[in-house]
Amino acid sequence: MSFTVADLTGDRTEQYQQLTAQAEALVAGEPDRVANAANLASLVFHALPDLNWVGFYFYDGHELVVGPFQGKPACVRIALGKGVCGTAAQTRETQVVPDVHAFPGHIACDGDTGSEVVVPLVHNGELVGVFDLDSPKPDRFDAIDQHGLEAVARAFLAAL
Ligand code: SME
Repeated sequence: MSFTVADLTGDRTEQYQQLTAQAEALVAGEPDRVANAANLASLVFHALPDLNWVGFYFYDGHELVVGPFQGKPACVRIALGKGVCGTAAQTRETQVVPDVHAFPGHIACDGDTGSEVVVPLVHNGELVGVFDLDSPKPDRFDAIDQHGLEAVARAFLAAL
């Protein structure tokens, strides 16, 4: 199978609609979560500007363990409630952090990171993991990014 990724056009809401459609097409008919997470990390990393890390952590029933990603090598295990990822996993609410240095307990995997957004992945009421994006720019992510990335996360969950 070949997959062509078209450039995103229009305003940022429209771009996220196109990105979500690309995500849905990429995972269609494929239930393997590692394969889908790998392709979605690549899709998003290459589609959106000003990112230094995009990837997944999976919940192993005890803590978060790093999964497929694009970017520099990352912390392998994160306890629930720790850092931005562990907070998103524990609260099951998306965390938008404009300045990671001001976030209590932020886990610095890549010193370049200035801001971060983490979307919790919950399937049929069960915690699956989190979808994490880092940017070297402060205040990189807003509500449009949050809602767009939550839609991409739903595409991942729908394929499970
Ligand atoms: N900064 C995250 C850790 C994961 S890395 O950014 C890839 C956190 O505080 O949970």
